[in-house]
Amino acid sequence: MVSLDFKTVLGFVPRNVYERAQSDAFKAFDMLHGATGAGNGFLGWLDLPSQTDESLISRIEAVARRWKNEVEAVVTIGIGGSYLGAKCVIEALSGAFHSHVKGDFPHILFAGHNLCEDYMGELLEYLENRDFAIVVVSKSGTTTEPAIAFRLLRALLERKIGVKASAGRIVAITDASKGALRMLSDENGYQTFIVPDNVGGRYSVLTPVGLLPIALAGFDIRALVAGASVMEKACSERSSLNPALSYALIRNALYRTGKKIEILVNYNPRLQYFSEWWKQLYGESEGKDGKGIFPASASFTTDLHSMGQYIQDGERTIFETNILVEENVRQVTLGSEKNDGDGLNYLAGKRMGWINSMAQLGTMLAHVEGGVPNIVFKIDRIDECNIGELVYLFEAACGISGYMLGVNPFDQPGVEAYKRNMFALLGKPGYEEASAILKKKI
Ligand code: PA5
Repeated sequence: MVSLDFKTVLGFVPRNVYERAQSDAFKAFDMLHGATGAGNGFLGWLDLPSQTDESLISRIEAVARRWKNEVEAVVTIGIGGSYLGAKCVIEALSGAFHSHVKGDFPHILFAGHNLCEDYMGELLEYLENRDFAIVVVSKSGTTTEPAIAFRLLRALLERKIGVKASAGRIVAITDASKGALRMLSDENGYQTFIVPDNVGGRYSVLTPVGLLPIALAGFDIRALVAGASVMEKACSERSSLNPALSYALIRNALYRTGKKIEILVNYNPRLQYFSEWWKQLYGESEGKDGKGIFPASASFTTDLHSMGQYIQDGERTIFETNILVEENVRQVTLGSEKNDGDGLNYLAGKRMGWINSMAQLGTMLAHVEGGVPNIVFKIDRIDECNIGELVYLFEAACGISGYMLGVNPFDQPGVEAYKRNMFALLGKPGYEEASAILKKKI
């Protein structure tokens, strides 16, 4: 179960600022749950966990069962919201040295989230002598990066096992009726799952976009959805006990006092990609109209040896949100040494988890003392249920927080600018005029 603590933050926020933010948080909550705010056509994620039906879960699990013994690797193709949700949950649940491999489940690989030739070249080489399948994810069905990856990987698969057999090794997750990926799937007879129209990419991890790759990796999607359902209930309460409302309130109160940068902090490397998912969720939802808290991330204690100086002592525009994990699955205890050459005998008999928790406490005390407010989320352990809770909590808080900022948290108009230039430079038909204008600039 997730808990939230922001008592050390209150000293940083003047009472009148807090009270104003509190009233705005309730108004934003009403906009979200009453569907009266901007982007209200994209609220399908709000009751997604409780509405997930058994037949969808069963269809997803059937694909996972079918491919479990048939393939060694599954390449999940997608970018942005069609990549980060699955990646963050799989990374969180996988072991550090067995990334994406659980028991005899296939190795989950990712593609289509960059345009790097070396990355793709290495992946094609890796797959050359392996049995693999493809999950291609694109809500629009037209995004360039995954489309390129799909063309290349499909060609390899078809060369290896033939066009007919390949159709049984490809699953597409896309729109019900629109887009190039839908057309390709219908023409070739690929099995498909639908991304609901009313769920945007960065809110889609609890749709087949996230659930299928997570199930393929061998994780329990029923527990993930159950955890999210528990949090859906907690986040639907119009109360200051609602953790999403409280988190949105406190981060906006801090923003209003000049804290413009939020660092999501973990002390467990399994959560690094959770931060990447969170950064997309908040960056793409809030960074618009010249506004928005800048979402950054750090993994401690690793980054205390790189970013620690700035956080302790640099410009005082930062606050931190910690995700602390209370239990470790494994026990690692420091031994005693006769000569105590490294001077560590004072820690003999202590578990690394305890040492890490002292580092957490010491860091928070130092940072708060240095003018960096610390919000704290705690989970007892990293498992499907708790990750489901965290995912839903951050989504719900993001909707409220975006409305508090006065932006539409469900669009992303700024993402189009780079695409326009890229298409013009690549010579895509229809972009001739933009190309001529750009060429004069370079
Ligand atoms: O959150 C978003 O909407 C984006 O990050 C998209 O998910 C991303 O651009 C990929 O889009 P699509 O799924 O249409 O290929």
